[in-house]
Amino acid sequence: MATQGERAKLLEEQQRRIKENLAKIKHRVVVFSGKGGVGKTTVAVNLAYALAKRGKQVGLLDADITGPNVPQMVGLHQPPEVTEDESLLPPERDGVRVISLATLIPPDSPVIWRGPMRSRALEQFLGDVAWGELDFLVADLPPGTGDEVMTIAQRMEPEMAVIVTTPQEMALIDSRRAINMAKRMGIPKIGVVENMSGLKCPNCGHEIDIFGSGGGEQAALDLGVHFLGKVPFDLRARQGADLGRPIILEDEGADISIALKEIADRIEELLLLVHAKPQ
Ligand SMILES: Nc1ncnc2c1ncn2[C@@H]1O[C@H](COP(=O)(O)OP(=O)(O)OP(=O)(O)O)[C@@H](O)[C@H]1O
Ligand SMILES: [Mg+2]
Repeated sequence: MATQGERAKLLEEQQRRIKENLAKIKHRVVVFSGKGGVGKTTVAVNLAYALAKRGKQVGLLDADITGPNVPQMVGLHQPPEVTEDESLLPPERDGVRVISLATLIPPDSPVIWRGPMRSRALEQFLGDVAWGELDFLVADLPPGTGDEVMTIAQRMEPEMAVIVTTPQEMALIDSRRAINMAKRMGIPKIGVVENMSGLKCPNCGHEIDIFGSGGGEQAALDLGVHFLGKVPFDLRARQGADLGRPIILEDEGADISIALKEIADRIEELLLLVHAKPQ
């Protein structure tokens, strides 16, 4: 058993490593939502690939410890390599460095850890992973606005929060809560993505607003944060996710991919503005 002094020392060492790692990452973006199943992982994954496709060095951190599904969505099954100095080397998938608990535990085993263990896993993802020099680290967070999500997000010292919502009312009430959480955390830039906004019939091209439309934009306007764009519903996004091929890689000319790329543009623009500010 480590003594209290030894534990304090280890903790200090961990904090130092996290700081060192974060200093090598230019932009840190957290993706979260007030509600589950609204498309956080889809947005986080495609955003990472949109940025990588324009030559940026990108890391994708699956911060959803209890339901880690980034590897499934990007078709990655390889665990990180452990280097001589015991750091984890993130495997690369189509030019994006990916870390997730899913590649570190046996498949199909449930993650039944308590809060403190989940937080520790995340600290290791930040401190013990050799991310290297990155232009962007995109983190996919667990659903909701609980203390844990807030702690995780804070550990990353993000410059930007991307809040994903669907246009329907319930998701909106929850996303307003998420926007307010990001504000309370003092994240410099906050943007809203309205996902599953409209479905174009693949046969006749007629558009149907399954969950309504425009609610995300209104919430962003009401709360004074940036609106990043609408992402249409596209069955291929779901199919691609199930097969491990993000839609943006599979069909870059699809409406959904264009929408996601425009969102990446806006995020880049907003982050460049953060950096343009005098220190
Ligand atoms: N624009 C879209 N068009 C079609 N399907 C989508 C779209 N966005 C997400 N999906 C599908 O909806 C489901 C939920 O999406 P996703 O896993 O990205 O949500 P999430 O917010 O990360 O969920 P959780 O809260 O469980 O982490 C997935 O099957 C995904 O493929
Ligand atoms: Mg998810």
